[in-house]
Amino acid sequence: MHDFYYKGSDLYCEEVHLSLIAKRFGTPLYLYSHETLQRHLKVFDNAFGAYPHIICFAIKACSNLAILRLYAKKGAGADVVSGGELFRALKAGMDPRKIVYAGVGKTGEEILYALKKDILMFNVESSEELKAINSVAKKAGLKARVALRVNPDIDVNTHPYIATGLREHKFGIPIGDALENYHIAKRLSNIEVIGIHKHIGSQLVEISPFVDALKRLLILIKDLRDSGIMIKYINIGGGLGITYNDEVPPHPEEFAKAILSLIKNSECTLILEPGRVLVGNAGVLVTKVLYLKKGPEKNFIIVDAGMNDLIRPTLYGAFQKIIPVKKRMDNTIIADIVGPICESADFLAKDRNLSKPKEGDLLAIMSAGAYGFTMSSNYNSRPRVPEVLVKGRKVFLIREREDYGDLIRGEKIPGFLK
Ligand code: LLP
Repeated sequence: MHDFYYKGSDLYCEEVHLSLIAKRFGTPLYLYSHETLQRHLKVFDNAFGAYPHIICFAIKACSNLAILRLYAKKGAGADVVSGGELFRALKAGMDPRKIVYAGVGKTGEEILYALKKDILMFNVESSEELKAINSVAKKAGLKARVALRVNPDIDVNTHPYIATGLREHKFGIPIGDALENYHIAKRLSNIEVIGIHKHIGSQLVEISPFVDALKRLLILIKDLRDSGIMIKYINIGGGLGITYNDEVPPHPEEFAKAILSLIKNSECTLILEPGRVLVGNAGVLVTKVLYLKKGPEKNFIIVDAGMNDLIRPTLYGAFQKIIPVKKRMDNTIIADIVGPICESADFLAKDRNLSKPKEGDLLAIMSAGAYGFTMSSNYNSRPRVPEVLVKGRKVFLIREREDYGDLIRGEKIPGFLK
């Protein structure tokens, strides 16, 4: 679980009262618990015990340098999906030999950058990409280690936007074509085939799709071995879900047990790409109530955070718990909690029953540590909010609030308009 809890009627992160943090840095702000971040990594890592494994944190979930540095120090690597993410991972001190690179649209420049940094491997998503990587590597006089990302055609029970393992999705090489592609890869002069990769979706709260997908991969690995291709790494991606509301996802230990029972005789190093499960419940978005507005049909609690700060409710209809930073014993209210953005899609919760706040009250939007800040934007020319880390009773600003100057950085008015 996490380290946000009430002492009396006050919400704390570890040993610090949230209202003190809001007072110091203003709102909205993202707040992370160091203790939760590191415990979640430890629990996940320990679950795989002595079995050779590498945890490549999916940094798209939360890519603040301080958090990446914490994970690097604890031995984790990174799953990256762009040159920018690779840059971050390296800046944070992650070991390049624990970095894997996925994504269907790697550019030539990005491929070269990753090759020069000698990352552990590319997770290749098509035969076209395989050839592109070979040609970039050849020109640079380097050899690229690769895994093929296989699409196992597994249906998962999650929001359609975050399911990735069906034939109709853009991701990976269809499992039926994988053998042939491995043989193409083997013949390419500047490619070294070392692994197999899959990632079937995110926020999965059942073990069975992971098991079914892995079983399909293991059959393929046997076929590959029979035809002379030796796989050294099995990468099972990320996707393990968390509790936002009343979901009951498997504990990492239960998850690990199911995976290890399948691969224990594979003689392969296991790679894992957890994102949400490590950081999701380690972060909250703190926001202030600006106005209580009574519409003809609905009550609105208008807060200072909007869909540009946290887009998950808008984009996926995602549920995020919203709780007061100071509990009130007053009446409850059913209201939409909405931001200042000029769109009706700008909501953080719909028809939510909560204790009725007053203007100026602070609310914490829970489970915002994953895909919160990283998906935020400057829409409506709103500066992005700060990120703050709490460790015990210490508070660290790990990303400054943007100012208006940041909003126009890089923009230029052409001479003819001057
Ligand atoms: N590996 C690959 C190749 C991925 O594409 C992803 C997530 C992960 C690992 C990590 O998945 P996780 O363990 O976090 O489920 N923005 C969405 C989630 C998008 C996930 C994209 N890929 C959300 O807010 O729910």
